[in-house]
Parts: sequence; structure tokens; C-alpha cells
Amino acid sequence: MKEVILAIETSCDDTSAAIAIDGIIKSNIINSQDVHSIHGGVVPEISSREHQKNIILVVEEALKSAKVKKNDLNTISFTIGPGLLGSLLVGCSFAKSLSFSLNLPLIGVNHMKAHVLSNFIDNPIPDFPFICLTVSGGHTQLVLVKDFLNMKIIGETLDDAVGEAFDKSAKILGIEYPGGPVIDKLSQKGNPLKFKFSKPKVSDLNFSFSGIKTSILYFVKSQMEKDPEFIEKNLNDISASIQYSLVEILMEKLIKAANKYKISNIAIAGGVSANSLLRKEIERLKSIYNWKTFIPKIEYCTDNAAMIAIAAHYYIKEKRFDDINVCPNPRLNF
Ligand code: KG4
Ligand code: ZN
Repeated sequence: MKEVILAIETSCDDTSAAIAIDGIIKSNIINSQDVHSIHGGVVPEISSREHQKNIILVVEEALKSAKVKKNDLNTISFTIGPGLLGSLLVGCSFAKSLSFSLNLPLIGVNHMKAHVLSNFIDNPIPDFPFICLTVSGGHTQLVLVKDFLNMKIIGETLDDAVGEAFDKSAKILGIEYPGGPVIDKLSQKGNPLKFKFSKPKVSDLNFSFSGIKTSILYFVKSQMEKDPEFIEKNLNDISASIQYSLVEILMEKLIKAANKYKISNIAIAGGVSANSLLRKEIERLKSIYNWKTFIPKIEYCTDNAAMIAIAAHYYIKEKRFDDINVCPNPRLNF
């Protein structure tokens, strides 16, 4: 019998549903909630209500696009955490009702493990062990991946996530949320070495991004006092310099981790792994350090249900199912 999985992702501000048949992604529908941009960040209450509005349509679209009927499904999976409680509850409740009504097994997938496993959606896939740099709006992690579900965090941020640093720096420049992709775009025409920001001093493999964010804020403020048009005149160069500094911090720790654990299989994941400089840097370092590198397609970097479906495929292999009483966990660890 074919394994036909429906996956639902509602951890933050993207409502997504995907279908995987025997570990192959057949559809991946993502509805991104634009309503948050005017608020300068994700508003949890709004996010949860938007998921309620979108979820049925997104699931129907995923089924239609994969040419799969509800009765063809044999597993229902969803993101159990970490994420925003109100948002997770929508996906979890929907998945539970569907699993109950169709009498199908239920799997609650760890969102951060799913980001790592997005590297198994398309070929080539990494060999174990590998290191994954998972970088998103909520997390910055170096993960030692020993097997599909056997992962260990070997470094993480002590304060802000790198995606947050991108978004908050963008906000200082007057760019709407989420500013990360806009900084990336503006950087294409900027000089990355024009402005320098103080780098964090954090030992071992951990990260810190709150200091650099403050240093960007004070730098921009002081320049604006001298010239009120400073941002306008230098937007591309400021963006490129911010992007360069943030990516440099990530790359330094990634190299350190690869050396410390003597691992040459390197993967990236999460929304910030869509960043063009980060992707270029991984390719540049590959030839210097003799790495084998794995970079997911852009649509599998930012939040998506395809990664939940592929993770569920490996949960099934390990017979890790949940019962109908399962609850979301906003602070779920590895
Ligand atoms: O993984 P994701 O979609 O959601 C979370 O789980 O957080 O990541 C969203 C983050 C946001 O901070 C967004 O600004 C950032 O990823 N991001 C980028 C780019 N695309 C998305 N940051 C820099 N450059 C990009 N191209
Ligand atoms: Zn995510």
C-alpha cells in the first residue's frame, strides 16, 4: 500500500499543507499572512485567526494539486511545536479532527527537526553525520544530525535569532516586516564593506545577535542626526553591510563547528537560508574546506508543510505516532 501523508504547518504566520506519497512531495501550498507587515511583526492573535480562515482552503488546494482524495490519505501529520500556541492549536485541532473522522494515524512533528529534514526532500541528500545550520525568525541553531530523528543542538543563540536581527535592522531602516528578504534585495546593489558593526564575542558555538542590532541602531541614529537623509542616500550600502556582518557571524561559527566535530557534510535550513549571500558563502567555503554542501530549494527554506510531510515519513519508519489527546507545545525542544 502506498504511504499517503497529509501535512499541516501553522507554527507562525504561514498556513501550509502538503501531500507526500512514499516520501515524495506531490504538493506544497503556502498561504503567507501579509496582514502582519503593518504591525512591524507577527501578532499572535491575528495569526491564529488567519490560520482558522485559511486552513480548509489550503488543505483542499494541497489535495487537489496532488490529485489526492481525502479517502486516499493514510496518515495525518501536523506541527506540534515550537511556535505560537494559538497558531499551533489551529493546525493541531484540524489534524486531530481529520484523523478522528477518517480514522487515520496522527503524527505531531517537531518544527525544528522538520527544517533540518527539508534537506531530504530533493536529491542529493546528506550522509550522516552532518551539521545543519538552522536559521529562522525564531531560531539560530547548529545541529549535529546523527540520523533522521537523532539530532543534537551543538550551538544556539543566547538572545535574538538571526532572522530577528535581519527583521529588526530592517525596521530601523523603515522597512516593513519581514525585512530579511528586502535587505537581501537591496544588498545586491550595495557595498558590503562600507559600514562596520561590532561583532558579538560569544564563546564556543553559541551566537548572540542583540548587540549587533543595538550597534546598528546607534550607528544609524547618530548618522541621521548629522544628515537626516543618511538612510535614503545609503540604503543599499547599509543593507549590504548589515547582511555581510550577519552572514559572517554565522559562517565563522559554522566553520568552527565543522572543525570541532570533524564533519564535512554541511547543510542549511530555515527562512534565513533563503538569503542569497548565505547561499553563496556556503558554496565558496565548500571548495576551501572540501565540504559536501546541501541547500534546500527556496520554497523549502521558509516555513512550509512539505518539510513536515518529509519528517512524518521518517516518524512513520520509527513508528512514532501520537494519540488524539496530543497537545501542541510552543516551547518544544529536540
Ligand atoms: O523559517 P521561517 O519562514 O519562519 C520561522 O520559523 O521563523 O523564517 C522567517 C525568517 C524571517 O526573519 C525572514 O526575514 C527571514 O526568515 N528571511 C530572510 C530571507 N528570506 C526570509 N532573511 C534574509 N534573507 C532572505 N532572503
Ligand atoms: Zn520555521
